[in-house]
Amino acid sequence: MTSTPVHKVPGFSFEIIGDIAIVKMPHTDKSKRKTIGEALLRDIRQIRVVLAQKGPIGGEYRIREMEHLAGEPRTTTIHKEYGCSFSIDLSRVYFSPRLSTERMRVADLVTPGEYVLNMFAGVSPFSILIAKKQPQCTIVEIELNLVAHELAQKNAIRNKVSERIEQIHGDTKRELEGVQGRFDRVIIPLPESSFEFLESAIRSIKKQGGWIHFYTHMHGRSNADAIESARVKLEESLRSRGSLRYSRVVKGIGPGWYQIVADLEIYPIQQAQ
Ligand SMILES: C[S@@+](CC[C@H](N)C(=O)[O-])C[C@H]1O[C@@H](n2cnc3c(N)ncnc32)[C@H](O)[C@@H]1O
Repeated sequence: MTSTPVHKVPGFSFEIIGDIAIVKMPHTDKSKRKTIGEALLRDIRQIRVVLAQKGPIGGEYRIREMEHLAGEPRTTTIHKEYGCSFSIDLSRVYFSPRLSTERMRVADLVTPGEYVLNMFAGVSPFSILIAKKQPQCTIVEIELNLVAHELAQKNAIRNKVSERIEQIHGDTKRELEGVQGRFDRVIIPLPESSFEFLESAIRSIKKQGGWIHFYTHMHGRSNADAIESARVKLEESLRSRGSLRYSRVVKGIGPGWYQIVADLEIYPIQQAQ
């Protein structure tokens, strides 16, 4: 009798980044975790390493603690998405393949000649995809985690776009002090605390106006409820300096919690007569 491959067992979930599978099963005992890891390695050809995520994504660098379950003893991999490839160390930097559609959606909106700010670079997946899709734009990105920043630099070279991305290692709050009216488009991919950065994003948009792609976490009884809460909070913060033009749930992040993106159009600043 043949048994069901572990990855097809109802309720069992995992994600694949490059050639690494990450499973979440904090309540399963260690020997069972190892057996599941070995089964995944055997059943899915692409996988060379199986890791278990030990807790939620956390800390300033948004990192997850990993436990090695099976395969080669490493946490580094190369992940491919939309013709780009990213070198990643899953135990030292943030990366989520679940945001790939969102990265492509934003990249498709960028027009020739734009000056784009990515406030939280990670290993640079947003910036690199934008630079590849829109060869006539320039991007500035900022990242606090030195390991992520160094991988972002390598990734920009690997994808042949390093000349069009200015990559800053630093704290976004500090780096943007005094920056005013410089960008056509700003991305704020730090959903846990994005409201703290909205004012500096608005200030950094050119006086002719521009766009902000704003990511946040919202609680709600449903998708629609969470989107509505985000709309109310954002319109209060915008105070008629702009409008929410589009929003959607990017992914569910837990019972009653959603990650939401909102595209904000920032109006031109009227010159005093
Ligand atoms: C949720 S991750 C998003 C990374 C990337 N945009 C992506 O989609 O993979 C947020 C990133 O912001 C960085 N970060 C957190 N606080 C920061 C700060 N104050 N200044 C600059 N980067 C920061 C973290 O280290 C992390 O890499």
